[in-house]
Amino acid sequence: MQNVSLITKKQEIASLILLNIELLPLLRRFDISLGVGDKTIHEICKAKEINVDFFLEIVNIFHNENYFPATKLKKFSIKEIVNFLKESHIHYNEEIIPAIEELIHKLVWAGDDHERNLKILKKFFDEYRKEVKAHTEQEEETVYPYTVFIENSCIENKKIDECYKKMKEYSITNYADEHNNIEEKLTDLKNIIIKYLPPSQNQDIAIKILNKLYKLEKDLYHHALIEEKILVPKILEMENILKELNSSEKA
Ligand SMILES: [Fe+2]
Ligand SMILES: [Fe+2]
Repeated sequence: MQNVSLITKKQEIASLILLNIELLPLLRRFDISLGVGDKTIHEICKAKEINVDFFLEIVNIFHNENYFPATKLKKFSIKEIVNFLKESHIHYNEEIIPAIEELIHKLVWAGDDHERNLKILKKFFDEYRKEVKAHTEQEEETVYPYTVFIENSCIENKKIDECYKKMKEYSITNYADEHNNIEEKLTDLKNIIIKYLPPSQNQDIAIKILNKLYKLEKDLYHHALIEEKILVPKILEMENILKELNSSEKA
């Protein structure tokens, strides 16, 4: 692992934001508001009953390009991973996507071009917004509840029969096979703005949009990594344990 400078729990939470402003949206997902004084990460996490080890792993993943400790991450519960993923969905659907949409509406081109260009961008982004919504809804309504159910059954060692029935109808491999990368389309959108549309009259707005698209793309990339490299293998292991338990119960 190269050039990894890990954030530790002894560091002040304010220094974290000053070090990397892109970590700021993560604080909201852990319900940490600004006005943190000189409290350390450890102190804030303790006061807010946040698992400090989980918090540190998440901020370090987002802070370091080359850091993704899959084995370490697997020790955290499905419940806390899913809670974080759900909070991230709120950020995408209710904050960053509406903010980008608002900026798109502010773009201005000269003359007759205006209507046409705005229509192209609005249509593209509207479809993208719907795609993200459908993707996150499917995860929240089907995938995440399934993973929590499997984890609970595994921990409590009960409802094995019910679990087995559920696993026959739906397995985490279905999710793994179907899971698509919603960040990929953002490259097309960036290209439309950078290359294909004529220059807008308010370039400052176009730059703001690109900055937000870049941040969203990065965030979605890490999000999908957690889903595919942590959630899926963890549940796969549990499904296998439950299958064995079910067959030994029947034997
Ligand atoms: Fe997700
Ligand atoms: Fe996803």
